[in-house]
Amino acid sequence: KPKKITSICCIGAGYVGGPTMAVMAQKNPDIKVTVVDLNKQRIADWNDSDLSKLPIFEPGLDQVVAEARGRNLFFSTNVDDAIREADMIFISVNTPTKTYGSGKGMAADLKYIELCARQIAQIATTDKIVVEKSTLPVKTAQAIKSILDHTGNGVKFQILSNPEFLAEGTAMTDLANPDRVLIGGEQTEEGLKAIQSLVDVYATWIPKAQILTTNIWSSELSKLVANAFLAQRVSSINAISELCEASGANVEEVAKAIGMDSRIGPKFLKASVGFGGSCFQKDILNLVYISKSLGLTEVADYWEQVIIMNNHQRDRFANNIVSTLYNTVSGKKIAFLGWAFKKDTNDTRESAAIYVADKLIDEQAQISVYDPKVTAVQMQADLNYLNTRSEAENENFVKTETDAYKALEGAHAIAVLTEWDEFKTYNWQRIYESMSKPAFVFDGRNVLDKTALEAIGFRVKAIGK
Ligand code: UDX
Ligand code: UDX
Ligand code: ADP
Repeated sequence: KPKKITSICCIGAGYVGGPTMAVMAQKNPDIKVTVVDLNKQRIADWNDSDLSKLPIFEPGLDQVVAEARGRNLFFSTNVDDAIREADMIFISVNTPTKTYGSGKGMAADLKYIELCARQIAQIATTDKIVVEKSTLPVKTAQAIKSILDHTGNGVKFQILSNPEFLAEGTAMTDLANPDRVLIGGEQTEEGLKAIQSLVDVYATWIPKAQILTTNIWSSELSKLVANAFLAQRVSSINAISELCEASGANVEEVAKAIGMDSRIGPKFLKASVGFGGSCFQKDILNLVYISKSLGLTEVADYWEQVIIMNNHQRDRFANNIVSTLYNTVSGKKIAFLGWAFKKDTNDTRESAAIYVADKLIDEQAQISVYDPKVTAVQMQADLNYLNTRSEAENENFVKTETDAYKALEGAHAIAVLTEWDEFKTYNWQRIYESMSKPAFVFDGRNVLDKTALEAIGFRVKAIGK
């Protein structure tokens, strides 16, 4: 009989681990769920009685935390105790692209994963099911298993792959009502039992038909492929947006027309300044790296083109601002609406805004940014991470405002980088009056009403129109 899980530990209290475990605890009041992290501040924020201080902004997360925290959901820095106590351990630590050595800029950096595996092996005194929750290269489970089996105290480990498909900004509804849950495991008697234990955890709120079980490598690969296909749709429509601008077609009309073909479908066809987020680029680079390592050059080149197109779309957006502003933005105020990689999140990883800002700083523009959820400290950290220039220079060129109208005041141009709903409701007449003329708007998300803005007097450039 599969083991009934009573205690879960999740290593990594980030954008994936935090919301996922909050929902798992909410739906399984009889399971004790402990989320641990090395980052003391992060854990303190998860435990803050003021729910507006949670370390990540995600609509609806505060209510679920309020319901489960202290009942059967706990946040702690005591990793060892949580490992010791758990029947099942989720690994949900970050796996950034390597910034050094072989595979630099392409392969996933697995050092955090490996450290977790070694720590689990060292601490565990009872049998454990270890679940990969982070996106990982195919065959990582095998590496984890090898570490656990060779450095452990003779206890038995089963490794499962259970990739997370939630999207930020809609994480709570995605978790409560997922299209599917995917669980991969060893196709042995013990492996199948472990799979069943995890199926039972999910089955308290998810219909059995939506819980897929596969071998471990199919599960690992499916996560990379799902993200590659999604990103590919965005790059495909973005490629068409450039063609639309050059030919007089309208990308929204094209997207609607093709999306009504049920074989194509209407979702994920929104042309934009480029996709961002912690997953798309990283996972495709990973897929490209794995393909190259296996000698599959054509496969690697095919997927790499998705990234090349995305970089091009961001560059094109920045170049368009410069060329439209009479080939110079030096000393001009360019106001950014939005910095997050999409609306309804405070996450900025790989956000197009960072790259557009970087290009405009090279052109000596004075950038002023308003984002409803991103802090000035985060924006500076994002720019400094690129290492293009000194921190002092980044600070000089990019100012953050907490009032949108103040950010836009006196600007020569506005660039919309994130599709926050509130941008649509602004008093655009008032904004127009406060700006330098001619007043330009570059709508990188096609969220503003182009015709209405033009009626006020703005010169508007949208994507693919
Ligand atoms: C296509 C379009 O589907 C149709 O809308 C358009 O009007 C004309 O072009 P057609 O070429 O007749 O239609 O057939 P289709 O079913 O699209 O298949 C095209 C090719 O793709 C076939 O060789 C088919 O075997 C192949 N295919 C299709 C696959 O290999 N895999 C698939 O999943 C689907
Ligand atoms: C993605 C996957 O959707 C999710 O299943 C996986 O678990 C993690 O990666 P996420 O990165 O949180 O989720 O957000 P997503 O909604 O996929 O958006 C990614 C990027 O693509 C954003 O920058 C978004 O603005 C952009 N995008 C998305 C477009 O530009 N156009 C679209 O039509 C859709
Ligand atoms: P994701 O989007 O994948 O959730 P995040 O960066 O938001 O990524 O979260 C990953 C978390 O994992 C971070 O808070 C980091 O401090 C934590 N972490 C990384 N390595 C370890 C480790 N060995 N033990 C505990 N926590 C870790």
